Amino acid sequence: MSRRVLLLPGDGIGPDIVAEARKLLTALADDHGLDLSLDEGLMGGAAVDATGVPLPDETLAQARASDGVLMGAVGGPAWDGLERAQRPETGLLNIRRELGLFGNLRPAMLYPQLAEASALRPDVVAGLDLMIVRELTGGLYFGEPRGVETLPDGRQRGWNTMAYDSAEIERIGRLAFEASQRRNGQLCSVDKANVLEVSALWREVMNGLATEYSDVTLSHMYVDNAAMQLVRAPRQFDVMVTTNLFGDILSDCAAMLTGSIGMLPSAALDESGRGLYEPVHGSAPDIAGQDKANPLATMLSVAMMLRYSLDAGELADRVEAAVGSVLASGQRTADIHTEDTRLVGTAAMGDAVVAALGAT
Ligand code: IPM
Ligand code: MG
Repeated sequence: MSRRVLLLPGDGIGPDIVAEARKLLTALADDHGLDLSLDEGLMGGAAVDATGVPLPDETLAQARASDGVLMGAVGGPAWDGLERAQRPETGLLNIRRELGLFGNLRPAMLYPQLAEASALRPDVVAGLDLMIVRELTGGLYFGEPRGVETLPDGRQRGWNTMAYDSAEIERIGRLAFEASQRRNGQLCSVDKANVLEVSALWREVMNGLATEYSDVTLSHMYVDNAAMQLVRAPRQFDVMVTTNLFGDILSDCAAMLTGSIGMLPSAALDESGRGLYEPVHGSAPDIAGQDKANPLATMLSVAMMLRYSLDAGELADRVEAAVGSVLASGQRTADIHTEDTRLVGTAAMGDAVVAALGAT
């Protein structure tokens, strides 16, 4: 069955890295049996410039008609001053909400070849391989009521609402328990149940689910402690599940543990397995269009798309193996380059991965 993939290059280095993903998908279609049709759309600042809004209706319609959406990166100083509705971030939040992409998988793994790149000592991070499962369409990001008001005495007051219902918690919980079953069977749920009612409910629902997944060991941790444990002893974690805001913060922390944010992919899934895939890093406008960006996070995002949305797990394994073998051969983009390795540009790195596919 032919699969439809939508590419959304976006802003900054987005077009540079999505070009490499396109190369990879085209090679998988031409030489490795993937039945694929590729489409491209506008998103982020590029969409604001062309249409006035960061997520045009047409892009949303294209996304709804796709099995998987691959996004480069959105945002940049050119659009920072715009009102909230026009900001590239708003486009991203809207596509998550409109497509019901509640389940965000953010793996953080340290490639053995890159162990020196972490800000932490190699003996603390060597072998790190964890997955943060972040709830993505609820919580403080989307809770109502929200707003800013002017009080009678002239002061202003702003507020947001952190709310989850039990069905939302159960849905993200199941995704996390299932991810744990495919990994080491250790799930840590992160909350602030010592202070917040919404967290107490979160914990209660997670405990209820645990009785259905007897092959998974569930533990709980308060978010402040989890932040500390992530930098103290990160290998204690396998899968972590948490709310939208806590997951936003902890996933940046986890990404930095690897020292190479240019290597990390992510997936945002709906209830039927359709997904939006994107590298964890941002749009890096300062190096856009200069053949300097690392395309590997985007190529690894293609691997996640193959696995979770295109039913092609075997090809996903091959893409990941190809990335590993290119790193082993010593080729590095500027962000991960060291003295004893060979500096290559974005396009050469993409070509190397495609060439290595043939060898796997
Ligand atoms: C992320 C980003 C987004 C978020 C921003 C750009 C809206 O930080 O994907 O982690 O906060 O979710
Ligand atoms: Mg973030």
